[in-house]
Amino acid sequence: MSIEKSFPDRVEVAVPRLMNIESTPPGVSAEVVCLPGIAPDEVCGKAKRLSSALRMPVRLESKSPHTCAMTLFFRSPLENIASGTEWVTRLFEGAHTLSGLPYGQDEYGRLVAADFTILPHMLLGGRTGAGKSAAVNALLTAAITASMPCGLVLIDPKRVELRPWRRAACRVATEPDDLAIAMSEAQMTMRARYEFMERHEVRNLIEQPEHLEALGGPILIVVDELTEFLTLAGKQGGTALSSIAQLGRACGVFLVIATQNPRAELFSKSTGTETLRANLPSRVALATATADDSRVILGSGSEADASTIPPSLPGAFLRSGGGRALARVPYLSDRDIEKVVAAHPCQVTLIDLQDLAAAPKTQEGNEHVS
Ligand SMILES: Nc1ncnc2c1ncn2[C@@H]1O[C@H](COP(=O)(O)OP(=O)(O)O)[C@@H](O)[C@H]1O
Ligand SMILES: [Mg+2]
Repeated sequence: MSIEKSFPDRVEVAVPRLMNIESTPPGVSAEVVCLPGIAPDEVCGKAKRLSSALRMPVRLESKSPHTCAMTLFFRSPLENIASGTEWVTRLFEGAHTLSGLPYGQDEYGRLVAADFTILPHMLLGGRTGAGKSAAVNALLTAAITASMPCGLVLIDPKRVELRPWRRAACRVATEPDDLAIAMSEAQMTMRARYEFMERHEVRNLIEQPEHLEALGGPILIVVDELTEFLTLAGKQGGTALSSIAQLGRACGVFLVIATQNPRAELFSKSTGTETLRANLPSRVALATATADDSRVILGSGSEADASTIPPSLPGAFLRSGGGRALARVPYLSDRDIEKVVAAHPCQVTLIDLQDLAAAPKTQEGNEHVS
């Protein structure tokens, strides 16, 4: 008998002075709210005992000093992750910002979001098929539906990874020449933003959203796959990425880098990336081939090991700052992505090298500001 069948639709939980028991598909959950006068600790203790006795994950939310809501899940929310369509619908409703771009859901059904204002660049690693592209898709959905949408620069040396996003991007690069041009344009755009900041006496565009918006908003540079990128773009490409990782945050330019080869040697002097990893503070480890790979992503001090993530949970991940708590990205189909892309055209303009070459020279040279 399956686990759903072995429980009734409606659960009566015999905990004194708890009420509002409800049933919520797709599993069965019970929400129990404590009455005023009961210490939340008492309720939490009971809920945790109940949760472990029933082997059901529990979510506890404090509603007021004397009230808390409790949800018991018959199945782990990781197994019941929102479908791509539900996810997109939810994001269209929500007013999320750069300080909270949702890209997954944890074991208690809570959204996991990236705060690019504090941890400005993200490194995603995991073996092939672990769900890196699914994670990138979820993050990009949030990035372009945010209240101040991000412009996308897509670095796709494998050509097919970021394909569904192309129509929403301000730049797509797949060929070695394109990769170098996209990197130069991103760096020139950054330089122009710094010149703007100097003129307007702004230290940080993230703290001055009106200025950031005037410049077109944040820019997200997505590299899927780093090894391939470094092979095609060489040391110059690696150095460009490292410089964006160092200077990007203040001018609203962010990196999201995915790799299926999270090896320490990948970040080396010979590829111009020796400082890159240290400047990608937000880490997401999908299932890795080895514990060493997991440490390269999460850091050697991490207590979590992404090589233990079960293959039955594609898209499951561990993250820096998340301890051992597993979370999972939703799976968006190309159709889900098309829906988002159609409604969110790119609003950022990068400095275009071709336009620059064609522009008449001024006395000061080729000055160009975005
Ligand atoms: N949250 C998820 N739920 C169900 N299946 C998923 C999920 N995330 C990924 N997958 C499955 O895993 C496959 C590989 O994911 P993908 O993101 O392409 O991996 P990677 O980019 O790491 O190689 C997908 O085609 C999909 O079938
Ligand atoms: Mg992929």
